[in-house]
Amino acid sequence: MITYSAEKQIFKLDTKNSTYAFGFASDFALVHIYYGKKIRNINYWKELLNIHKRGFSAIESGMEEFGSTDAIPMEFSTFGNADLRLSSLDLKFKDGTNISRFSYRSHKIYAGKPTLKGLPSTYIEDSAEADTLELELFDEVKKVSVTLIYTAYNDIDVITRSMRVKNESSDEVYITRIMSATVDFEAAGTEYDFVHLEGAWARERAIERTSLIIGNQEIYSRRGSSSHHHNPFFALAQKNSTELAGDVYGFNLVYSGCFTAGVERDAYNTARCYLGINPSTFNWCLESDAEFQSPEVVMVFSSEGLSGMSREYHKLYRTRLCRGKFRDFKRYTLINNWEGTYFDFNEEKILDIAKKGAEIGLDLMVLDDGWFGKRNHDKASLGDWVVNPEKLPNGLNGLANKINEMGMKFGLWFEPEMVNPDSDLFRAHPDWAIHTKGYSSSFCRNQLVLDLSRDEVCDYIIDCLTDVLSNANIEYVKWDFNRNLSEYSSEVYPEDRQGELYHRYVLGLYRVMETLTNRFPNVLWEGCSGGGGRFDAGILYYMPQIWTSDCTDAVERFEIQYGTSLCYPFSSMGSHISTVPNHQTFRSASLKTRADSASMGQFGFELDMSKMTEEELETSKSYVERYKKYCEVFHKGSLYRLASPFESNFAAFEFISEDENTVILVCGNILCKTSSPIYNMKLSGLDPNADYEKVEVEKGELLVDKAEIGRIFGGDELMRRGINVCNCRDFESLMLVFKKIN
Ligand code: DGJ
Repeated sequence: MITYSAEKQIFKLDTKNSTYAFGFASDFALVHIYYGKKIRNINYWKELLNIHKRGFSAIESGMEEFGSTDAIPMEFSTFGNADLRLSSLDLKFKDGTNISRFSYRSHKIYAGKPTLKGLPSTYIEDSAEADTLELELFDEVKKVSVTLIYTAYNDIDVITRSMRVKNESSDEVYITRIMSATVDFEAAGTEYDFVHLEGAWARERAIERTSLIIGNQEIYSRRGSSSHHHNPFFALAQKNSTELAGDVYGFNLVYSGCFTAGVERDAYNTARCYLGINPSTFNWCLESDAEFQSPEVVMVFSSEGLSGMSREYHKLYRTRLCRGKFRDFKRYTLINNWEGTYFDFNEEKILDIAKKGAEIGLDLMVLDDGWFGKRNHDKASLGDWVVNPEKLPNGLNGLANKINEMGMKFGLWFEPEMVNPDSDLFRAHPDWAIHTKGYSSSFCRNQLVLDLSRDEVCDYIIDCLTDVLSNANIEYVKWDFNRNLSEYSSEVYPEDRQGELYHRYVLGLYRVMETLTNRFPNVLWEGCSGGGGRFDAGILYYMPQIWTSDCTDAVERFEIQYGTSLCYPFSSMGSHISTVPNHQTFRSASLKTRADSASMGQFGFELDMSKMTEEELETSKSYVERYKKYCEVFHKGSLYRLASPFESNFAAFEFISEDENTVILVCGNILCKTSSPIYNMKLSGLDPNADYEKVEVEKGELLVDKAEIGRIFGGDELMRRGINVCNCRDFESLMLVFKKIN
């Protein structure tokens, strides 16, 4: 619910358990008042500003009563005035100046939520789900207006924000910095930790938790995509908060390109959080009468620790970010040939693998890289999306039909944004590849990136994929992206628009994805970028699942999936059983551990199944059945992270089904420790007055004790006394299932 009190001059946004408030201290000073646990009324707020008369900072006229905006928590700030911290919006004008100051112009509050033109965003299905405030500000001197857009969801503790800028002057205006949200936490810099997700290829989204430093602390990407290195997400977590308790604020940008996100802790211990398009790769020329819409930020408040924050993100992203037929649909279990064959396959080999997949009950055979052009290695043919008849003499259609006859669906890999110099596409359109005249191009995996800021390039991609998808029964697409952007300039855009390219690339990508996903609504789309290099909310708007990492090692995956789940639901994480020794780590985890680790996400296999023994296939079949039985608990249930692999020798995840009747505990042991204490895991979120029966026990291969099945525990007992989850061996995992019985 959103309300405005004219008397108190407060905008108050309420979700189920949180309140966010701000108001005008003068016609231009929009002051941030509060964000946190719900407050019924904010009766007094200007009184609290009086303490801010701090020396040296300038005081704008109209603010004499309150002091400098440099020392007050601000809701919105622009460069060139008294508030000289990192601003929400910086503009540059034709006359070379860069000062702007915005005053109140109008506002409207309405039930519902707008869509953002050309950009992904969270949505509603009924206007009663959320209220929106559009607050319009105006710079009288420069004739520019800004609309701050806020939506408060009623039943999820989420507030979204974005900003629209309109040039009402007759000259061009340049946007040099646009943060979709800035939020000031007054005098709180020492109270919070900065929690974010760092990583690298095959080691994505490790959790990093640090104190807030005095000064600016920033994570960012200038790689053209959200990247393996940082995710456009961070949380401010109360110093003593844990996974299960304490105040936590989450911030996530719904964007797949260059971003910045950080916290500036100032001299007065105020922490200013900010997220937006990365200004260092951005300079947007706004013509007279034109508008610019920023991407959306999704903010979550939880007083139930980091897991509490995650549950709100999961609920929202599962139901109000992901779209289409597959949003709520049980997705396909699959077998992908990549780690099984790499480029070395033909139709017979793929059919052999598919046959085994069909025997163990898998739904889908995915043919990965190598099916097109002369792609027998990674040096050629990206861009030429025409089947290789030497490998597939019956074409994609012939292969798809044979796989369909086995009772399986057929899926295909593409890397639509890329081109190899050794390709017909590059020979025909060398200028379509991103490059800068006078500089040699840097290569990664022998490939260049197509310039998606150009309409004709986007149209080419749309046409190619449309052609392939229309001519064979392809029911799944894996959309890969295997390098960063470099040497990016354009001969198509004029000098003063070169700063727009990185954002235009993302807008082009979103147009292509929107067109294709609408055109082929029955295809299940999975995003990918060398594993999880573009695992973000922008992609999830178009594709409900993303390949989480190129590291398929089950034990590493406990970490990667743990970190990813901070912001993104398990339903969005592609997760496969691969062969041992693992191709990335050379570790050999048991089939059971590999199955437990993969079962939490979108489950599949990625190995040469035709080489598996009958016994392995039989066991795999039982894991496919187990997954099908419980996948809704993993994907739609509530997640409690009970033990962190980043802090201990153990990863533990608890899932409670939507109806609260099924509880699953998955624990992964990293290394065996001799004489270690017995490990009692205390569950969370159960009904203390209900009883729970242990219905499945799947410990390490030597530890299955069938006598444990049927044991009954009180909810209070499981939460307070705990349960023994001690595993004996390296890399062993455990899965327990409880059913609520009364
Ligand atoms: C990178 C992906 O992450 C892998 O799964 C695989 O599809 C390869 N690309 C194929 O080139």
